[in-house]
Amino acid sequence: MSKDTVGIALLGMGVVGGGVADIIQRKRSHLRDMVGCPVELKGILVRDVNKPRATQTPHGIVTTVADDILSNPEVDVVVEVMGGQDPAFDYILKSISLGKHIVTANKEVMARHGPDILTLSRKKGVQTLFEAAVAGGTPIIAPLLRDLVANEVLTIHGIINGTTNYILTSMSQNGADFGDTLAEAQRLGYAESDPTNDVEGIDAAYKLAILATLGFRARVRDTDVFHEGITRLRTRDFQYARELGYAIKLLGIATSDNGSVQARVHPAFIREDSMIAKVDGALNAVEIQTDLAGKLMFHGAGAGSMPTTSAVIADIVDIARNLAGNVAPPPIGKLSERTHVQPISELRTRYYIRLMATDRPGVLAQVGGVLGNRNISIASAIQKETDEVAQRAEIVLMTHRANESDVQQAIRELEALETVAEVGNMVRVEEW
Ligand code: NAP
Ligand code: HSE
Repeated sequence: MSKDTVGIALLGMGVVGGGVADIIQRKRSHLRDMVGCPVELKGILVRDVNKPRATQTPHGIVTTVADDILSNPEVDVVVEVMGGQDPAFDYILKSISLGKHIVTANKEVMARHGPDILTLSRKKGVQTLFEAAVAGGTPIIAPLLRDLVANEVLTIHGIINGTTNYILTSMSQNGADFGDTLAEAQRLGYAESDPTNDVEGIDAAYKLAILATLGFRARVRDTDVFHEGITRLRTRDFQYARELGYAIKLLGIATSDNGSVQARVHPAFIREDSMIAKVDGALNAVEIQTDLAGKLMFHGAGAGSMPTTSAVIADIVDIARNLAGNVAPPPIGKLSERTHVQPISELRTRYYIRLMATDRPGVLAQVGGVLGNRNISIASAIQKETDEVAQRAEIVLMTHRANESDVQQAIRELEALETVAEVGNMVRVEEW
């Protein structure tokens, strides 16, 4: 039977939930016109009902008791914007079991349990949509599920964490301090409640697992994604990158080749004239290479209250239209379960290596020897005298393509040399 009002419950009313509550009320008549019937807030779950909120909501709908919401028959769509794994996952499963549709912005839950949630949704005849879980306000999930359905996705390259892109842009353009910029990103509502997930590449790994699963139509788990964060990067790395014609970005990269998938998140040197190198601030960009449509780029806001609200509302409207028109949820495509995941040790690419060594005859040859013994060929070397008294010099090397396992081993051997004080950083170079 078609609905004459679509009832919405929010699990969470923070940065995203607050925006969603605001827009459902402020754009009430627009949403009614788009859906064909009113869309109304029926319940909001929070931790603390007394916390001051920027958005006013109807009296008596805010609660700390999940069952008030989950068992409310007036609630048709549960919008999970509380974040984290527990209890969000549990509430999602309960809601689906009770026949409620789901909209979630939760990348962690979707990366870990997305295929199971979608299977349960299909069994229960409900829809689960999650556009906001990747790239915030920039549409990428719907294009992968709908617009590119005829394509084989070959590669995915993306800046999919706004907080780290904001920090890297500031470090690169203003020589800014890491901690100050992170605090500013938190203030602007880009960062996760625990920013470790952002700066260590974990948030991006969740998102890449979702994109790779949808793009390659194969289950790619968050644990299949190699991740390395941005905390080892120093202002000097950005200076050297610029000298060499590169920008540094935290990239999510996924490739599929003959049923074998590789998915990784790490800082990368990318040519400074590439489109993705120009994506600055909290913006996100995902570049997808496909067999039919060729190369596509999705670019826009990846975080923040209103951009993310835009994606959540789009999902709500999608479900509400089906409810208003009494249309059954569309089928979801099949995923292949048996995916071979290539470990990072099998990567073959170019590398930037920065190290501090004693400035005396033969040291460069010694360093070259270690790399040469591991089949790593040096493409260019820059030596900067940094401390004449201590007779130390910083050496920056760019290699030709080499095996990751050889590079990792060579770095351990370099660190063991008496003439090498430290290997300050190693950054992978991406050319695609
Ligand atoms: P947030 O500002 O920390 O808000 C979380 C909300 O959930 C708060 O209202 C909090 O209640 C409530 N909550 C948390 N745990 C709860 C519990 N156990 N029981 C009841 N209520 C609970 O988070 P957010 O930034 O809006 O993010 C929400 C989700 O959207 C996350 O999955 C995040 O990854 C995702 N996301 C965020 C962005 C962004 O730009 N922020 C972008 C895309 C996706 P109180 O208010 O009472 O503390
Ligand atoms: N913390 C995330 C980011 C929010 O900075 O991209 C959007 O998922």
